[in-house]
Amino acid sequence: MTKLLSALLAFGLMAMPLQAAMAQDKTESAAASAGAASKDAGQDAAAEGHAELPHFPLKEPPELSWSFAGPFGHWDLGQLQRGLKVYKEVCSACHSMRLVAFRNLKALGYSDDQVKAFAAQYTVKDGPNGDGEMFDRPGIPSDYFPSPFPNHEAAAAANNGAAPPDFSLLAKARAAERGFPTFLFDLVTQYQQGGPDYIHALITGYGQTPPKSVEHLIQDGTYYNPYFMSGPALAMPPPLSDGQVEYTDGTPQTVDQYARDVAAFMMWAAEPHLAERKATGFVTMIFLIVFAGLLFAVKRRVWANTPH
Ligand code: HEC
Repeated sequence: MTKLLSALLAFGLMAMPLQAAMAQDKTESAAASAGAASKDAGQDAAAEGHAELPHFPLKEPPELSWSFAGPFGHWDLGQLQRGLKVYKEVCSACHSMRLVAFRNLKALGYSDDQVKAFAAQYTVKDGPNGDGEMFDRPGIPSDYFPSPFPNHEAAAAANNGAAPPDFSLLAKARAAERGFPTFLFDLVTQYQQGGPDYIHALITGYGQTPPKSVEHLIQDGTYYNPYFMSGPALAMPPPLSDGQVEYTDGTPQTVDQYARDVAAFMMWAAEPHLAERKATGFVTMIFLIVFAGLLFAVKRRVWANTPH
């Protein structure tokens, strides 16, 4: 036991300088992204004596409770369906999801016919045809969610220079590092919901008053959000308002609820087999424990008559 404790302590001590280095990296990259764009503002700020850049995000996302958390995590299909609705009606105007095919939506509890009807609501570019020309046709289940913009540059041009990132893997890509010692506890609690917590916090985090220390870093056409990882403000306007998306199952139509649902949906999009993975992991652990017991019994039996 004492050995285990001292090993943990040693590991902690080793990890500390690493953490410090990572934190420094974070500040530097935040400084680079905020600093590059607002060079003038930065110079003014330096002149005024607050050249020190604050850490981003300014606030840590609150930890919510998700149905897919922990070793027995499972999807709440109703929530995923609501999240899909929010994505389709709101976020998909700007964000693509090019790694998810319509046929994947069957995992959300839809029938073949429902998936076909859903896909047909989209227009997909196909071709070339016999004349060598590209043409538009209604979507079919094997198509992937089409992008709202023809290319990255068009997406950036329509959004004040910042192209909206693709949704396919975003929930996992934004699972922020949590620093020492939290990440050690996360190993035990199996905390893997950093992405959805971040997305929910970001969507509900608009409309606050920026502190004086970052006011000079906020560029025109960006929106202050203390949860944004890469700076004090981002190019995405607040995307949701209360009552914007209609829910037919009686779930409250609030920004908080929409954000939870769309974040859960994005987690599903990023890791559709999460529930199976957890179930398999649990059975594997039980198997390993039983197997270890058996091995121990066999070892005692085999060595029973050997004097030592
Ligand atoms: C009007 C277009 C628009 C709509 C609608 C929109 N977004 Fe965005 N979104 C953007 C842009 C632009 C960015 C890039 C912001 C930046 O990097 O400054 C972005 C970035 C993001 C990010 C990444 C933030 C980061 O850490 O880099 C998330 C998450 C996100 N949006 C979620 C959503 C969700 C969820 C919805 C739907 C409820 C939505 N967005 C609707 C334009 C939009």
